[in-house]
Amino acid sequence: RKRVVVFISGGGSNMMALVAAAKAQDFPAEIVGVISDKPDAGGLAKAAAEGIATYAFARKDYASKEAHEEAIFAALDALSPDILCLAGYMRLLSGTFIQRYEGKMINIHPSLLPLFPGLHTHQRAIDAGMRIAGCTVHFVTEGMDEGPVIGQAAVPVLSDDTADTLAARVLTVEHQIYPQALKLFAEGKVRMEGGKVVRTADASDTTAT
Ligand code: GAR
Repeated sequence: RKRVVVFISGGGSNMMALVAAAKAQDFPAEIVGVISDKPDAGGLAKAAAEGIATYAFARKDYASKEAHEEAIFAALDALSPDILCLAGYMRLLSGTFIQRYEGKMINIHPSLLPLFPGLHTHQRAIDAGMRIAGCTVHFVTEGMDEGPVIGQAAVPVLSDDTADTLAARVLTVEHQIYPQALKLFAEGKVRMEGGKVVRTADASDTTAT
């Protein structure tokens, strides 16, 4: 099984969806560590309760972004992950970090990329008059939220939606597609090559499953 480290900054519901999926005997990956930049992230206690090693690296404890990332590298070197999953990690990684794990790092973003990269995606989708919204699992590359897409899922935008009600609806499908995308990646059915996603034949007509 591939060794996966998950990065969080908050409640960690996507991280817990990955943990739940990885409990299946035939799942091709196991979650070996959870790293947060927020010591009080709710997801850390949930991961610890599952017996998963947890690490918190508060940015303010380090003099520079480089020093912060060096501390994270030390933890990663001890965990020797095959795959990194960003799951609500709200800090931009440096080019050095991204190059170190190029092709091995995936992210979930709460919009149908390339629409609405960045923050406040749900309010922006509502303001734009979108009738569908959704989420994307993609490989991490140096452009923020620009890496090639592994899987997506869509939900309707309802006329009385607020950013919060839409976020909750999108989150339910995030919890479905992130484990599916990780499974595809961990079993070698999708990979990044020359900045594009390559799929095996049996994974070529899928969104995330
Ligand atoms: C999720 O909606 C995730 O897609 C989003 O943060 C939330 C984390 O929730 N990520 C981003 O906005 C990345 N820029 P969770 O901690 O419950 O998984």
